[in-house]
Amino acid sequence: MERTFIAIKPDGVQRGLVIDRPNKFIASCSLLRKILKPSGYNNQISEIISRFERKGFKLVGIKIMVPSKGFTQKHYHDLKEKPFFNGLCNFLSSGPVVAMVWEGEGVIRYGRKLIGATDPQKSEPGTIRGDLAVVVGRNIIHGSDGPESAKDEISMWFKPEELVSYTNNADKWIYGQN
Ligand code: GTP
Ligand code: MG
Repeated sequence: MERTFIAIKPDGVQRGLVIDRPNKFIASCSLLRKILKPSGYNNQISEIISRFERKGFKLVGIKIMVPSKGFTQKHYHDLKEKPFFNGLCNFLSSGPVVAMVWEGEGVIRYGRKLIGATDPQKSEPGTIRGDLAVVVGRNIIHGSDGPESAKDEISMWFKPEELVSYTNNADKWIYGQN
């Protein structure tokens, strides 16, 4: 099954956008609201990980790490001639990144759709960048742009034994039997 590499960049981690905070539940519980609000978490229905999960894609690898500058230069090697390359690599290596591998039919292409256009000023509302980011240099999430980069990025960020293959009960309801 197709796999892609997705990473929540340091801005997404620092802004508390990684994990879903169920809106209705929090809204109905004033104590929880008090606990979560000061910690910087906002309580929208769905932030980043849950958008992929609710679509029907499967999380097969996840870790949090601070990549070195050299590592980020390798990750974005195809952009090394760009004027923003140095700033981009400094930024990506400036704090924790949540690195993930997601699996599913069409996940490379559709993952990019969920993420939205590179510049959040041009991302459609409803996409992650459209809903949650404002400027191109802080667009909170990365997604592989094709099968080759997905393969390269997955093997760069993850060892094979860090990825799991599994079936879950929802698979047959997401894909059908034939
Ligand atoms: P990634 O998923 O992060 O790879 O973004 P992308 O595939 O949508 O865009 P691309 O690979 O072309 O650029 C990589 C990253 O460089 C983007 O996510 C932006 O953070 C940054 N970037 C791209 N274009 C610009 C630009 O014109 N100015 C600045 N400051 N940053 C840019
Ligand atoms: Mg890219």
